[in-house]
Amino acid sequence: MSVVSLKDLEIIASQKTPHDMWDFIDGAAFDEVTKRRNLSKFEEITINPSFLVDVGDRDLSTTVLGEKIGFPVMVAPAGGQRQHHPEGERATARGAGMADTLYALPTGSGYSIEEVAEVATGPLWFQLYHSYDDITENLVKRAKEAGYKAICLTVDTPTSGAKEKDLRNDMHRTEHLYNGSLRHNPEWLSRKGAQGARDFADWDVSGYMGLTWDRLDWLKSLTDLPLVIKGVRTVADAVKCAEYGADAIVVSNHGGRQIDRTLSSIETLAPISAAVGDRLEIYLDSGVRRGADAFIALALGARGVFVGRPLFWGLAYDGADGVKLMLDILRSEFDRALSYCGFKNVSEITRSAVNVPLSWDL
Ligand SMILES: Cc1cc2nc3c(=O)[nH]c(=O)nc-3n(C[C@H](O)[C@H](O)[C@H](O)COP(=O)(O)O)c2cc1C
Repeated sequence: MSVVSLKDLEIIASQKTPHDMWDFIDGAAFDEVTKRRNLSKFEEITINPSFLVDVGDRDLSTTVLGEKIGFPVMVAPAGGQRQHHPEGERATARGAGMADTLYALPTGSGYSIEEVAEVATGPLWFQLYHSYDDITENLVKRAKEAGYKAICLTVDTPTSGAKEKDLRNDMHRTEHLYNGSLRHNPEWLSRKGAQGARDFADWDVSGYMGLTWDRLDWLKSLTDLPLVIKGVRTVADAVKCAEYGADAIVVSNHGGRQIDRTLSSIETLAPISAAVGDRLEIYLDSGVRRGADAFIALALGARGVFVGRPLFWGLAYDGADGVKLMLDILRSEFDRALSYCGFKNVSEITRSAVNVPLSWDL
């Protein structure tokens, strides 16, 4: 089967991946309503083409927090890559670099901060799950030292996600494939939550030692890297992010993996952009599967988007080359949307390029 779309990659990956690992990647919380909503709400938005405009010379590049990327689709942080593929995060970082975009390394990576930086050719962010102050301080400082460009604090996991497929499959992580950045400090590994394994379902609903708003100053004092807050679902939290000095936010519901029955990310994007778009950079993830989805997100106020599950599909298909292929497909689809709407570069994209159903009324 030749690969034309991300859907093709998904089908091939599902055939190659062991059943429990597939459920871990593909699954979401409880009834997976939000996961489905993430996809279906994108399909409710339509695009307005505009012809007889010279779009012969297009430039898809943009900047995120000052870093140039070739097109506005980036690779989201996701634990489990080394359990899924032997090259894990190193392959993903290489694939993202080859496609000329950014990769966010998760706290729960099988390879360390430094091992990934060694092979990366594109910009990197470090995604942080905060558990203990001393571990956070260590990770954040190493990320800076290794050349990462931002700290991306994920805030939407006060407890682990209720992914029922994982509970049924009794899915467990293979420890050494998740603790690449902590393995030189074995005493840390026994501490609950230290490995950033919050995407694993757990019967235990006791909370993690997350940060609170009043402690963001402490986190910011550890480094001069910009702070991105990932997992923002409401205008109220977005406004707080601006007030507490975040440099950027990712409007994300974690691909529906943490709490079910929330709005989709694309539904919440426009109101969040209207409230804080002049104060910080806004990105979106959850449900991006086509270049047109990225285009819609940019029209509604995002500076860029991330893909999560598709990185695993690319990895399963062909390691780093598969991740690059997945991103190349999105790039060419995004380019088509841009050209059909009469734009030559991303800064020309306007809100009027898309129609949002009146019934959303948010
Ligand atoms: C298998 C898997 C593991 C994930 N692990 C993390 C993680 O460790 N940290 C994090 O911030 N987000 C994690 N995510 C969420 C992604 O960063 C992203 O928000 C989500 O996948 C976007 O939705 P999409 O899969 O529909 O593209 C994970 C997602 C998946 C699929």
